[in-house]
Amino acid sequence: MKRNPRDLKRYTASERANHWIVGICFILLGLSGLAFFHPAFYPLTQLFGGGPWTRILHPYVGVVMALFFIMMVLRFWRLNVMEQRDVEWLKNVDKMVDGDDHHMPEQGKYNGGQKLLFWGLVLFMLLLMVSGVLMWRTWITVPVDVVRLSSVVHALAGFAMIGLIILHVYAAIWTRGTIRAMMYGTVTRAWAKQHHRGWYRKVTGDNE
Ligand code: HEM
Repeated sequence: MKRNPRDLKRYTASERANHWIVGICFILLGLSGLAFFHPAFYPLTQLFGGGPWTRILHPYVGVVMALFFIMMVLRFWRLNVMEQRDVEWLKNVDKMVDGDDHHMPEQGKYNGGQKLLFWGLVLFMLLLMVSGVLMWRTWITVPVDVVRLSSVVHALAGFAMIGLIILHVYAAIWTRGTIRAMMYGTVTRAWAKQHHRGWYRKVTGDNE
């Protein structure tokens, strides 16, 4: 990848490490979770050393993801507070998807779509964490009906999370020049000016 000293810093090394720990845990949890969900996916347990090991490891990886996810939320929540311009952005999102992004309201570090996705992740992660702990059955014992209800909530929240992350990854690939922000920490000035002009003006002081 070509680097330019004029590129803008978007993420620190510690923010990126935090994000990728959550990302790797998410993939491991998705694969092991699907293995529990339906017999067609059961062979995935081979990746984790067989059925019993998958059942043992899944909740511990879940705890690691939960802790790092909470850390990530504490780092980023302020930047994801919805503003009027984000609501306007969301109202015009269909035009942008059709290729006309010239009339989109100026965006700060994150656009309305990223912010909406952020709060969706917070909601479904919360449901996953609470239902996951209730159905763990290693550290605490709860009535069997609570375990049953938790299993349903856990599966639904898991599918919602898989859907949101597919959207997240698709948007990151679709908006060329975004993946490198999380890989190397920087973006080009042109990228920032085109997609997040408010943030561009703030970090460069350039009022163009
Ligand atoms: C595994 C594949 C993933 C890829 C390829 C990926 C890629 C990216 C990229 C490129 C960005 C930078 C976007 C920007 O600066 O505009 C980003 C930001 C972010 N990602 Fe991911 N990500 C992945 C997984 C996840 C997971 C599993 C979560 C959480 C459950 C997550 C949560 C976030 C958050 C919170 C941000 C900051 C954006 C915001 O606060 O609105 N990502 N990701």
